[in-house]
Amino acid sequence: EIHQREYLSNGEMKQWEGAVHTVYSPVAVQTPDGYKRKVIGTYPVCTEKEAIESLDAAVAAYNHGRGQWPTMSVQDRIRCVEQFTHKMKEQKDIVVKLIMWEIGKSVADSVKEFDRTVEYIYATIDALKDLDRDSSRFEIEQGIVAQIRRSPLGVVLCMGPFNYPLNETFTTLIPALIMGNTLLFKPPKHGTLLHYPLLEAFKECFPKGVVNTIYGRGHAIVPALMQTGQINVLTLIGSSKVADELKKLHPKVNRLRAILGLDAKNAAIVTENADVSLAVSETVLGALSFNGQRCTALKIIFVHRSKVDQFLGQLSEAVSKLKIGMPWEKGVALTPLPEPQKPAYLKDLIDDAEAYGAAVINRGGGASFESFVYPAILYPVNQKMKVYREEQFGPVIPVVPFDDLEEPIQYLIESTHGQQVSIFSNDATETASLIDPLVNQVSRVNINCQCQRGPDTFPFTGRKDSAEGTLSVVDALRSFSIRSLVATKLNENNKQ
Ligand code: G3H
Repeated sequence: EIHQREYLSNGEMKQWEGAVHTVYSPVAVQTPDGYKRKVIGTYPVCTEKEAIESLDAAVAAYNHGRGQWPTMSVQDRIRCVEQFTHKMKEQKDIVVKLIMWEIGKSVADSVKEFDRTVEYIYATIDALKDLDRDSSRFEIEQGIVAQIRRSPLGVVLCMGPFNYPLNETFTTLIPALIMGNTLLFKPPKHGTLLHYPLLEAFKECFPKGVVNTIYGRGHAIVPALMQTGQINVLTLIGSSKVADELKKLHPKVNRLRAILGLDAKNAAIVTENADVSLAVSETVLGALSFNGQRCTALKIIFVHRSKVDQFLGQLSEAVSKLKIGMPWEKGVALTPLPEPQKPAYLKDLIDDAEAYGAAVINRGGGASFESFVYPAILYPVNQKMKVYREEQFGPVIPVVPFDDLEEPIQYLIESTHGQQVSIFSNDATETASLIDPLVNQVSRVNINCQCQRGPDTFPFTGRKDSAEGTLSVVDALRSFSIRSLVATKLNENNKQ
């Protein structure tokens, strides 16, 4: 068990004496009374007071840290991030174990998450070296020379999601940091302890006040931070509703920059010309990897009526072969869910779909303990059902039959989400005719493959309620900076 009692504020490890949050792993252990969720540790529940103190530290480090971070040379900032990454790699084993225990991710996927994060940091450093950062001086009018620079934005409030608590958090935290901003970092509720082994490295590698951490209940502390008006950038990978609520609290919301990765309801379209086996294998991966808890997961599948029987038969067979088990079990595909309220929510979605006439295929047997949810395929799904529009973020696959391709296109036009879509078709003319209408509704079209974020160096965004700003490597560096200008009037003392 890990009992964290420190938080990092103004360059110091502050000792926490107040209330703590007890972390129950979604991975249950067998006891004489049956399966019980295991306690794996505790962490501080900071109050507004600590949050505001840490914000003050970040503001001071931004405004007064002469030569310290925002005004440090890029090379020096890169060196600090490299040093941090080196120390982070030394903590790999413990961080991977904590990802597994805290959010129930399989060992293989936890290792992948860690490695992918390290690769992202190095890719960010490389991209920064090539970024259109500071131009050479050029004459803008007679007697005046100018230099265009890329400068930081100020104080960034950085919050990540539970499903990729390390990787997605760092895809905003690292570019924000390396561009010279100072940070207030709040890890997700399910996914806080796994950051603890990195806390010392943050303290050692960055000047005081540059990285400040806060923990606890977001709804109790984050509103107060927003209301100060001192947050220059809100970066959140999470729910659209929370992002909207937080933004509204900022006294000058129009001046706030928001870099957001939000809700999504990615659709697959299996046309009458699809290779059904391929569509099925990609749907299994797309809808059920990490139990469907990915913003990029396939969350609704439109299948041409002529292919429905074949598609459902193969999908049902493939899903029934998936292994459900503990994260460390070999070949495990589905693991326990970290959000305690999720199984009841998914059951409600399934009941609702059944009430409106959907059959539940592959309901599976009763779960051996509370955090397991067997994948359900729902068919035929229609617009009366909640699962038609709501983002299930879990192992439920709604299948909608269609006769005309205009039907799924219309779904995407009407959707409040706009992240990605997958098209399955072996007819090149058909796919070509779909790309333009679809790429104007979502930010990535995948042909004959599932939706996904990677490679992480690619632009990652969404339309409508699915995102604000663009991530990737270069895009993120741009998102967390501003192009500024230094203009110099030349005189006798200043000719160059
Ligand atoms: O939850 C959103 C993640 O960025 C998805 O990443 O598509 O690589 O699983 P992924």
